[in-house]
Amino acid sequence: METMPHFPLILLLLMLMSFYVFKCLSVTSFVFGDSLVDAGNNDFLFTLSKADSPPYGIDFTPSGGQPTGRFTNGRTISDVVDQALGANSLPPPYLAPNSVSNAVHGGINYASGASGILDQTGTLFIGRIPLREQITYFELSRAYMVNVMGEKGTKSFLNKAIFSVTIGSNDILNYFQPSIPFFGEDKVSPPMFQDFMVSNLTIHLKRLHELGARKIIVVGVGPLGCIPFVRALHLVPGGKCSAKVNSLIRGYNKKLRDMLNQCNQEMGPETIYVYANSYDIFRGIILNYRRYGFENANDPCCGGYFPPFVCFKGKDANTSSVLCNDRAKYVFWDAYHPTEAVNLIIAEKLLNGDESASSPINIRELYDYNID
Ligand SMILES: *[C@@H]1O[C@H](CO)[C@@H](O)[C@H](O)[C@H]1NC(C)=O
Ligand SMILES: *[C@@H]1O[C@H](CO)[C@@H](O)[C@H](O)[C@H]1NC(C)=O
Repeated sequence: METMPHFPLILLLLMLMSFYVFKCLSVTSFVFGDSLVDAGNNDFLFTLSKADSPPYGIDFTPSGGQPTGRFTNGRTISDVVDQALGANSLPPPYLAPNSVSNAVHGGINYASGASGILDQTGTLFIGRIPLREQITYFELSRAYMVNVMGEKGTKSFLNKAIFSVTIGSNDILNYFQPSIPFFGEDKVSPPMFQDFMVSNLTIHLKRLHELGARKIIVVGVGPLGCIPFVRALHLVPGGKCSAKVNSLIRGYNKKLRDMLNQCNQEMGPETIYVYANSYDIFRGIILNYRRYGFENANDPCCGGYFPPFVCFKGKDANTSSVLCNDRAKYVFWDAYHPTEAVNLIIAEKLLNGDESASSPINIRELYDYNID
């Protein structure tokens, strides 16, 4: 008799507990980077780098195929990884209204198309959020977290969160475009440019660490010498890549990897930097595209092969750019970005692959790693 009134209370407690446990089990993800992972921040900027009109997003289920600002037909690599780690919803763009409360749940996306490691990268596109500013925005999110959870609560919350940094492509694209100010006449040598990128990135990563980041994925630069935009500009025939561009990228990735190894040694076991080898994975897909089920690894699905490479949808077929029939059969969505089909393959390898894909551990191991 006496226990009866307690029953609902116990049930309620159990429900609250399971809700709490459920929340703890889903990933919190803070995303930094460029258009490869922008989830819509550039929609809120005055910029030439935007993916806010159809057919961008045509295969993105959560929006019903409407554009979200993602620079691909469906999900980005970061979206696929977060979903695989149990995200209830994807981190919203920082600049979207009311995004701030996500800081204490699933995380926030700070990435911005046309941005780079170096502040001056992307000036040609006018608006963009350079990495330095993305981290300043995270600092503001962190102040919100401290308000909600206190300094101690924030610290242990961030210990579990996954940070990913996908940046560097635009720095390299700009380096090879002589018309861009600063990157113009007296261009520094490729080794010196790689060093600028790595040393500036190191400063940004140290700052993220000071703000509480402990599980940090740094994505290397992919084989940009093989993307339609670069091949067209450098007059590289189908099936080939610009050796000059790819060689600069391999040199940069090597220096990046060495720097991350060194950080792992200096920081001890309570911080992990994971190097994501997108270069070799993506290169492997392009070389063996048929084995992966693709039919075209040369042309963009949308926008065509020649400048200005714009992918857009007008009122009818005559006022729209070219759009391929089967998006799942193309490696490239537009002249710069891979299709969702490619993103799915890359994400799977980064999540579950061996050291050739991601080192020293893969992303699933990083997610399971406990830092106290
Ligand atoms: C960062 O890059 C700039 C070039 O944009 C360079 O002048 C500067 O020395 C670099 N900073 C560091 C710390 O390497
Ligand atoms: C598109 O253009 C062609 C000729 O250029 C014309 O025959 C056709 O009717 C146009 N289609 C639409 C939907 O306007």
